[in-house]
Amino acid sequence: MTTIDKFKMSWDEWDERQNPPPAVTDFDRVVERAVSRRGFLGGILAFGSAAAAMGTIGQLMSSTAVEAADATSRFPFTPVPAGTDATVHVPDGYNWNPLAKWGQPLFSNVADVDPAKGVSLENSDKVFGENTDGMELFVVGGHQLIAVNHEYVNPEINLPHAPEGVPQSADDVKILQNMQGVTVMEVAEGENGWQIVLDSPFNRRIHHNTPMMLSGPAAGSDLLKTEADTTGTECLGTLNNCGAGKTPWGTYLTCEENFNGYFGSTDANFALPEDYKRYGIAAESVYSYEKFDARFDVSKNPNEPHRFGYVVEINPADASSKPVKRTALGRIKHENAAVTVARDGRVIVYMGDDERGEFLYKFVSTGIYVPGGDTSTLLDDGQLYVAKFSDDGTGEWLALTPEATGMKADEICVFTRKAASKVGATTMDRPEWVAINPVAVEAYCALTNNSRRGEMKDGKLRTNAGGDELALNAVNPREKNGYGQIVRWYPENDDHADGKFKWDLFCMAGNPSVHKDAYAGSSNINEGNMFNSPDGMMFDTTGLLWIQTDGEDTNEGDFAGQGNNQMLAGDPVTGRIERFLTAPKGAEVTGQTWSADKRTHFVGIQHPDAPFPDGEGKLPRSTIVAIKRADNAMIG
Ligand code: FEO
Ligand code: CA
Ligand code: CA
Ligand code: CA
Repeated sequence: MTTIDKFKMSWDEWDERQNPPPAVTDFDRVVERAVSRRGFLGGILAFGSAAAAMGTIGQLMSSTAVEAADATSRFPFTPVPAGTDATVHVPDGYNWNPLAKWGQPLFSNVADVDPAKGVSLENSDKVFGENTDGMELFVVGGHQLIAVNHEYVNPEINLPHAPEGVPQSADDVKILQNMQGVTVMEVAEGENGWQIVLDSPFNRRIHHNTPMMLSGPAAGSDLLKTEADTTGTECLGTLNNCGAGKTPWGTYLTCEENFNGYFGSTDANFALPEDYKRYGIAAESVYSYEKFDARFDVSKNPNEPHRFGYVVEINPADASSKPVKRTALGRIKHENAAVTVARDGRVIVYMGDDERGEFLYKFVSTGIYVPGGDTSTLLDDGQLYVAKFSDDGTGEWLALTPEATGMKADEICVFTRKAASKVGATTMDRPEWVAINPVAVEAYCALTNNSRRGEMKDGKLRTNAGGDELALNAVNPREKNGYGQIVRWYPENDDHADGKFKWDLFCMAGNPSVHKDAYAGSSNINEGNMFNSPDGMMFDTTGLLWIQTDGEDTNEGDFAGQGNNQMLAGDPVTGRIERFLTAPKGAEVTGQTWSADKRTHFVGIQHPDAPFPDGEGKLPRSTIVAIKRADNAMIG
């Protein structure tokens, strides 16, 4: 794979192909299941060695889902067909306009990006960054602010002078570092639709060199100390900002996902520390940072990678505020951070770790949230748990304590994956976003896909990088799962702080035009709404689940008829799912939020491989689009 090919896919996909090293993913080799689709949903035991796990699926598929066809519609739109072209499509009666594009100025004295020259060093921290991802909207003193992540950069468009985009200097590296991270920007709706409010005092770029603090149980630990920071509490930058979250007290949570890809060693003889393996930290980085910025050279700064992989809290209301890395929420490849408040006021944060066979987590604060009270330590002091899903449709949250793991408190925060393996968590099919239903006590996680689930190698089951087997089980029921599924859990006692839950599958994505077995998907998947690789996921205030995809858009073979990536709405009550939006070729749909009046739905279009949104002959630009109804009705 060339450097250029690498950036034509989502960073997730690239990281999965590298770490662990590439595996056979040819879906044609999937052994056809000896069961009909009807049998699958009826729970017929016919799955050979995986019979015990698979047989329970019938009971575990949501009973509401199978009744979907009879349900009364809650969908105020006419679904769109699968898309295969270079632009965004929304239903009749809706329109979309770009709000913010890669390289667009946040300040009036900065020029828009010149595609031929890329972004200048001087402007690179004053423009909208690349590859928009998770976002949230905040209302501060009547101003609407969007905080939004910039997950990664496509180096050859930011550095057009550099062969294949490989940085040639420290300045080149700085440009790439500045074009990632987070943007906080004020937005307003005027006669020409939604615009960025240039020069707003709230406008801010947070990037790979922004000063931040480390807090929580690992702050000050030897594991976090470096030559530049002998206290282990002060660090620079946030990396690979993927999904997001929002606290009830008005702060933004940005989630550091594939941070491993930014580190390398300039010393070929440097022996990588043992703990790097679980996170895929290798001797060479994606962007050659280590050659020009010693902080990313692990042979010189072996603890620097320990300072990434966290949930970072940002106060969007104060552009001079220092972001805080909350180590109590664990160090994993954080997808997003879905926050709610338990019955007694404790703060709950659900978090997925997006890698094949990694886990789903929950943090429960010790203190309670009191509106207007001190919230500064709520995300520092609490208990982290990891999910265990049983095949009988129950589950429990296993506490990651020193007693249960044999690890010290700081070690649990820094080597969280290892701690979770020690307590026997359930290996999952790549947990992406968690979404919490605001009108029912339940939460959902998109399990995007897992090419290695159930796969045998040398007579043994495949494992995650910690050695935990990827055996088939009821919550991850399909071998070499190329389509993904969405799991839903119902906390016991209707309380998200409870240690136990019941679960079912809200849907299993699939292709009923190609397969007649489990790979056709669950009964709420049909030829009109099919998709693969659910990823971004949020609820609107009415309780509709908005599902975004980051998958195969070849529209061929197993994915024939599914078209480009898309966004769908799901009804938790009936299980019905309908397609709302299709993306330009090559793009992933990721990140969404709503205007304060709920009349605009903002949606992120990441890494288009088509001249979007400026049209033929123009460079593709990752973009947030603002979607409205022509009659300006509420849509969220
Ligand atoms: Fe950045 Fe797993 O998505
Ligand atoms: Ca992605
Ligand atoms: Ca994602
Ligand atoms: Ca993904």
